[in-house]
Amino acid sequence: MSALFSPYQLAGLSLENRVVVSPMCQYSADNGSATDWHVMHLGQLALSGAGLLILEAAGVEARGRISPGCLGMYSNDNERALERVLNVVRRHGRAKLGIQLAHAGRKASVDVPWRGGKPLKPTQGGWETVAPSALSFADGWILPQALDRAEMDRIIAAFVRATERCVRLGLDVIELHGAHGYLMSEFLSPIANRRTDDYGGSLENRMRFPLEIASAVRQAWPREHALGVRLNGTDFTAGGIVVDETVAVAAALKARGIDYVCISGGGNSPKQQIPVKPHYQVPFAAEVRRKSGITTMAVGMITNAKAADQIVTSGEADLVALARGFLDDPRWAWHAAEALGDDIKVAEQYERARPKLWPGAKFVRPELHP
Ligand SMILES: Cc1cc2nc3c(=O)[nH]c(=O)nc-3n(C[C@H](O)[C@H](O)[C@H](O)COP(=O)(O)O)c2cc1C
Repeated sequence: MSALFSPYQLAGLSLENRVVVSPMCQYSADNGSATDWHVMHLGQLALSGAGLLILEAAGVEARGRISPGCLGMYSNDNERALERVLNVVRRHGRAKLGIQLAHAGRKASVDVPWRGGKPLKPTQGGWETVAPSALSFADGWILPQALDRAEMDRIIAAFVRATERCVRLGLDVIELHGAHGYLMSEFLSPIANRRTDDYGGSLENRMRFPLEIASAVRQAWPREHALGVRLNGTDFTAGGIVVDETVAVAAALKARGIDYVCISGGGNSPKQQIPVKPHYQVPFAAEVRRKSGITTMAVGMITNAKAADQIVTSGEADLVALARGFLDDPRWAWHAAEALGDDIKVAEQYERARPKLWPGAKFVRPELHP
């Protein structure tokens, strides 16, 4: 059994393997409520062979959605719609199911990507946004309102209410979105956070609000249920967060009972320069794992099975997440297992396509069956 396909215990949750489907916005919700698209999308990915499937960023309040098509976890309708989807996905899928809880901060109120992804004014169906400081993301973006303490308390309460919905929905994992220049990441990054109160300036101050959110969610989310946070290892911009700071944030999260971090990057500045290449964020994950000791998930241009396995065997990360690799090939984990010589369970209905029962496999992937 390869390291990639060996089981992993995350708090009270037993994962079949270390392969994770990374959260991916689908921009296909209706007032925050999941639709038939989510049955299609999540249904296929729950059969992918990944041990864990993390649902897309779900706004904890309506103004915390990125776009009008984003998933929400703020209303009874949202909860009922997701329950319907999860009932189907769970009945037939094998993957454990998590969800990313998010607040988009100053990057909320944009159009869906296939309509340009540009900021939407209230007259275009957009809304007012909030952030640590009254600084827009870029020219032409909405000027956010700086959060005061009472509003910050309301946002913490919204995270808690969304968590209570996740408890009722029987989800296995919550991941808080603390990356990519959305609200928690805005507080962490000196680029977006220019506050002069207890929530800005030093790292200790910048991490205070994200830690308050994480602690409140931890209290509302049963201890045996896994709770993670996605963080930026770097903003890929001068003046942004740096990996030593992320190490300190990860250690503080660990001390508050958070079970894992997923290390990503970017999104806080349009000036970012991302050196996109295979595994471009893995060194940040490795450093966070080594120095903080928290369970770590790596993500970013991981596509090759043997290289993914190497990330786990070398101790760079405990878990490996893929996003576009799974859109391209929803059976990525089947093929990864085949490449690593592992035998993984698949739905009975699809047994006939397993390499040992289907001679065609060697013609489709001759490199694996010389
Ligand atoms: C369609 C799409 C939607 C995404 N939505 C989210 C999201 O909701 N939350 C998040 O943290 N990252 C999101 N991401 C980023 C991915 O989770 C992942 O970190 C990134 O794509 C790099 O991994 P990859 O090279 O395997 O695609 C999204 C990526 C894609 C392609």
